[in-house]
Amino acid sequence: LIYGQKIRLRAIERDDLPRFVVWLNDPEVRAGISRFLPIGSAEEEHWFEGLQQEPAYQRPLAIDVREGDRWIHIGSCGFFNFNLQARNAELGILIGNKDFWGRGLGTETMCVLLEYAFQTLNLHRVYLRVYQSNTRAGHIYRKLGFLEEGRLRDDAFSAGAYQDTIVMGILGREWRAQQADEKVQHGKQ
Ligand SMILES: CC(C)(COP(=O)(O)OP(=O)(O)OC[C@H]1O[C@@H](n2cnc3c(N)ncnc32)[C@H](O)[C@@H]1OP(=O)(O)O)[C@@H](O)C(=O)NCCC(=O)NCCS
Repeated sequence: LIYGQKIRLRAIERDDLPRFVVWLNDPEVRAGISRFLPIGSAEEEHWFEGLQQEPAYQRPLAIDVREGDRWIHIGSCGFFNFNLQARNAELGILIGNKDFWGRGLGTETMCVLLEYAFQTLNLHRVYLRVYQSNTRAGHIYRKLGFLEEGRLRDDAFSAGAYQDTIVMGILGREWRAQQADEKVQHGKQ
């Protein structure tokens, strides 16, 4: 298990699947990701079976949040599209339970994932794709030091309009410089 302050990341279990079906059928949640067709439990089961064939480092992780002495499953995240030679991977995050949006948990999860990427997986670069309309997600990524690396024009289509997909990335040395700066700032306080 990977622990943050309020969240933990763990393997996805079969019992989690019904929650994913609810979240992935929610138009507000789906707007930020590439899924646009309704999803059923059979498809979700199929996805779960497929995951077991993937190498462990490439399987998404469940995000749980601590509420008192309980852990509540609120979403998933993880790395995929690994390039082992160039040491990079794509990152994805989904907080499907909207009751937990806006509480800093997306930001905390991203911080935990970046530390895991650079300190455990020894990646050189982490990148992601975000729709231009997903200003909430874009705000988090910029705040954490991701830079815009490119823009795929009219790459996506939703709600009757084309929109750009923005590719954002952060290098290990940029992340480490940021960590060192934060330590200095804390030292001064
Ligand atoms: C994107 C997502 C992970 C954010 O999670 P979250 O827990 O709500 O995020 P946080 O509470 O940590 O941070 C939200 C930040 O966005 C800001 N924000 C909220 N709405 C915003 C908007 N419409 N435009 C810009 N910024 C916005 C908040 O002020 C906050 O920033 P701050 O901490 O600097 O004040 C979550 O909404 C989600 O999973 N959405 C559905 C799937 C998705 O879009 N995934 C990302 C695909 S690239």
